[in-house]
Amino acid sequence: EKGGHDYFMLKEIAEQPQAVADTLLGRVGPDGLLTLDEVRLSEQELRDVTKIIVVACGTSYHAGLIAKYAIEHWAGLPCEVELASEFRYRDPILTRDTLVVVISQSGETMDTLMAVRHAREQRSRVLAVCNVNGSTISRESDAVLYTHAGPEVAVASTKAFLTQLVACYLMALYFAQVRGTMSGDEISEIIDRLAETPAKVSEVLATVEPVRALARSLAGERCVLFLGRHVGFPVALEGALKLKELAYMHAEGFAAGELKHGPIALIDEGLPVVVVVPSPSGRRVLHDKIVSNIQEIRARGARTVVIAEEGDSAVEPYADTLIRVPAVPTLLQPLVATVPLQVFACELATAKGHDVDQPRNLAKSVTVE
Ligand code: F6R
Repeated sequence: EKGGHDYFMLKEIAEQPQAVADTLLGRVGPDGLLTLDEVRLSEQELRDVTKIIVVACGTSYHAGLIAKYAIEHWAGLPCEVELASEFRYRDPILTRDTLVVVISQSGETMDTLMAVRHAREQRSRVLAVCNVNGSTISRESDAVLYTHAGPEVAVASTKAFLTQLVACYLMALYFAQVRGTMSGDEISEIIDRLAETPAKVSEVLATVEPVRALARSLAGERCVLFLGRHVGFPVALEGALKLKELAYMHAEGFAAGELKHGPIALIDEGLPVVVVVPSPSGRRVLHDKIVSNIQEIRARGARTVVIAEEGDSAVEPYADTLIRVPAVPTLLQPLVATVPLQVFACELATAKGHDVDQPRNLAKSVTVE
């Protein structure tokens, strides 16, 4: 049942190219237009939306943080992202023109379900991005976009995360199409690039052996930091979460730009710091700023693990370990950059003798608040 793998988590990591392809399947019509049939909101209702609030927990929340960049950039809609457990205990300003997007693999997470109910009571519409068909959240929402990742058994979310990202990209592009913020050609161009991502994820998986070796060499460490910028920031948060839950290690993700506002004080001789570097062909300033961050932390003794696009030579002098990922458009980079971090956490936890499918104190679906 584990398909020859020692753990479900390894199987699910390996299934990611197929899972991403499955999420894309059948969602583009012969005319090149996106057809998200299950999104039972009329085009007029979508045009009336003035604000999106994305609500989720854990890894799904990280997918939401990435979705924000896509929704704002492509669909031109203001977007907030909030943890479900925080959302329902404040007084969010919700109107009929607010679309609440909830993201949940299981569709049963109690905090997220309560957020759905709260939003609907305020007459906002709720669109759920779910993996499990017919789950409570998908039934109680106004509309649902399924991720089609297949069953995810390991407690730590991997393929569900990648497919949530794809579903969110499709959703953002669909809003852009309906609202006319992008031309058909622009949308098709991105869909084409998305269609290439399963092969790129396969490429990453084929080259992760050095990541495994690195993970084993760090098994005795007490703490690992993760830095990123733009969509690399949620990737850093996700890398840290995986390490916490699987390896029971202290791990933190930071926005690289925040370093000098505090976290740089943590940098000590030999501290491993994983840095997710944006593509140099995207916004150059983002790339260059992070390269100087890497220089800064290295000068203070950090052991730098740099995740950078193939051909990005600017990072080479400052990387103690360099992990290459294939070039993809900036907004899509999380699809390739997260994979080595999943492998890293899984291997490091295994090296410490932990059961990665059943981390201590955790349940696959959190049905209590
Ligand atoms: C982390 C993880 C959890 C879940 C969170 C939300 O690997 O699995 O953080 O992402 O409990 O679960 P869902 O997506 O089912 O609502």
